[in-house]
Amino acid sequence: MNELQPTVDREIVASIVGVSKVYKLGGHTVRALDNVSIDFRQGDFVAIMGSSGSGKSTLLNLLGCLDRPDSGQYILAGRDVAAMDDETLSRIRGRYLGFIFQSYNLIQQLSVVENIEVPLSYQRPPLPGGRERCLKLAELVGLSGRLGHRPTELSGGQQQRVAIARALVNNPHVILADEPTGNLDTATSHEIMDLLDALNRAGRTIVMVTHENDIAERARRIVRLRDGRIDTISEVRPALPVVSGSIALERL
Ligand SMILES: Nc1ncnc2c1ncn2[C@@H]1O[C@H](COP(=O)(O)OP(=O)(O)O)[C@@H](O)[C@H]1O
Ligand SMILES: [Mg+2]
Repeated sequence: MNELQPTVDREIVASIVGVSKVYKLGGHTVRALDNVSIDFRQGDFVAIMGSSGSGKSTLLNLLGCLDRPDSGQYILAGRDVAAMDDETLSRIRGRYLGFIFQSYNLIQQLSVVENIEVPLSYQRPPLPGGRERCLKLAELVGLSGRLGHRPTELSGGQQQRVAIARALVNNPHVILADEPTGNLDTATSHEIMDLLDALNRAGRTIVMVTHENDIAERARRIVRLRDGRIDTISEVRPALPVVSGSIALERL
């Protein structure tokens, strides 16, 4: 991709507008998110930081449609999530979003390639060429030599690579990652960040929660939350000058 092409307006892939989320515990209410507004554009790479309890996971869960706001709007792929029925929501989630977790969340009984295939089994009708696609993704994350291994036979970094390949299998526009390097040593963490960086350069939008400064600095923007509100937004590197990211996305 030619990174010197002029930037045209990058498409907004996800937009949070005046969103609040309140939890009630006994007689006590916690405002986990308090009137938060933020846009995520195609090619963004955002690190969400903030102390424990500041609302990071709540924000990521809303972005992932794992939870719904109490007030405000979430616009995903140009559509109001609140107006989607369950079937539409799960279809958009499956096609549009890829998830990466701190604890990898692999299925222990399945091999590397079978784990990567899991999201394909939810597609109706199944995507053609699924197995070949999984093999290509295993190669992309450097696991071609481990296709038949079970998760317990892999290092933490290798398990996270499987999880990343699995997150990519439906060619999502947006990758959501909650502490993706939280269980990894520094060197392995940076290898995983190299992979996320390459995916971002190929046009994917990444929103990642982390509490580690050196990991956050691998993103393009850092959003700091405090008590459920956006405290600061800082730019680490300029936004990716994506022009037609969909072409780059289809390369995978
Ligand atoms: N399911 C829940 N029930 C009650 N309170 C919750 C729930 N989830 C989160 N909270 C509260 O909301 C606030 C934000 O939580 P969270 O988004 O998990 O923070 P972070 O990920 O930044 O540590 C915290 O005060 C937390 O205790
Ligand atoms: Mg959290």
